[in-house]
Amino acid sequence: MTHTILITGASSGIGEVTAKYFSQKGWNVAATMRSPHKAGDWAKAPNVMVSYLDVTKEDTIAAAIQETVDRFGAINVLVNNAGYGLNGPLEGISTQQLAQQFQTNVLGLAAVIQHVLPTMRGQKDGTIINISSIGGRIAFPLSSAYHATKFAVEGLSESLRFELKPHNIRVKLIEPGGIKTDFMTRSLQWATHTAYEPGVSNMIEMTANLNNNLPGPEGVAAVIYQAAIDRTDKLRYTAQPGPYLLMKQLLPDSLWRTVVGMSLNAHARTQVPESHRQPDRFPQ
Ligand SMILES: NC(=O)c1ccc[n+]([C@@H]2O[C@H](COP(=O)([O-])OP(=O)(O)OC[C@H]3O[C@@H](n4cnc5c(N)ncnc54)[C@H](OP(=O)(O)O)[C@@H]3O)[C@@H](O)[C@H]2O)c1
Repeated sequence: MTHTILITGASSGIGEVTAKYFSQKGWNVAATMRSPHKAGDWAKAPNVMVSYLDVTKEDTIAAAIQETVDRFGAINVLVNNAGYGLNGPLEGISTQQLAQQFQTNVLGLAAVIQHVLPTMRGQKDGTIINISSIGGRIAFPLSSAYHATKFAVEGLSESLRFELKPHNIRVKLIEPGGIKTDFMTRSLQWATHTAYEPGVSNMIEMTANLNNNLPGPEGVAAVIYQAAIDRTDKLRYTAQPGPYLLMKQLLPDSLWRTVVGMSLNAHARTQVPESHRQPDRFPQ
């Protein structure tokens, strides 16, 4: 039997590469996106269907799921990938920006799960894969809004797996480290506040430079595939996590805070003119 996967946010980055990966493995792929015109030639394959799905619009979620079931007859795996980062000091973030961040990364993800569950329960089988982040386990400065959403995704998933087990539906979390996609460029939103300058400006510059040195999303797609075919109850899968997650687990908190401060200041030293630097930008 050919399996079917539905992926949100398949227009770029991890979602797009994952859609291609599963298509090449012979799966039926419902590549959903809020901008279907962005789908590349890979989406013309006969086992791929592009559907409009904006995770903040419930009617589009329901329609895309129905389209997938009509076309392929099942949804075996859901990959909740759509998301973006909102960075900057909490004091500079408007309520509307914060709401939109949660609406997309948390409530949107939850809504897609709610809409796909009747299909998976009917099948008495399914796998829900939520794209979290190492930022759902550890937190870096000036990213409180984004971390709050990914910590929420971790809590939601960890609880959900228990209630879905009797229905033979598995829940998986993918935790990538920094990956070169549009995440840190086109998609990233920044809030700022004069009281946190020049720290925010330095961080914006550092983030842009960091992106060029990151691994591409192919490794994450391979981990998503492993999670999709893993029928055990394993919950968490790291993907290209980098060193920080392990360091956070091993180091005492005082040392961890020093490491975070040092690495940020080291980046700032290489990227930011001396005249703009401020030694206590990220106080310990
Ligand atoms: N890259 C990293 O370093 C990294 C690390 C850890 C976790 N992640 C997570 O990986 C996931 C994918 O990000 P990425 O790195 O692949 O970044 P990306 O290239 O910016 O892709 C994000 C995708 O999400 C879509 N999206 C955003 N809001 C949406 C909405 N309301 N409805 C439907 N789709 C929406 C975007 O659509 P448009 O093309 O229309 O904007 C795009 O397809 C995110 O959940 C992110 O938090 C990324």
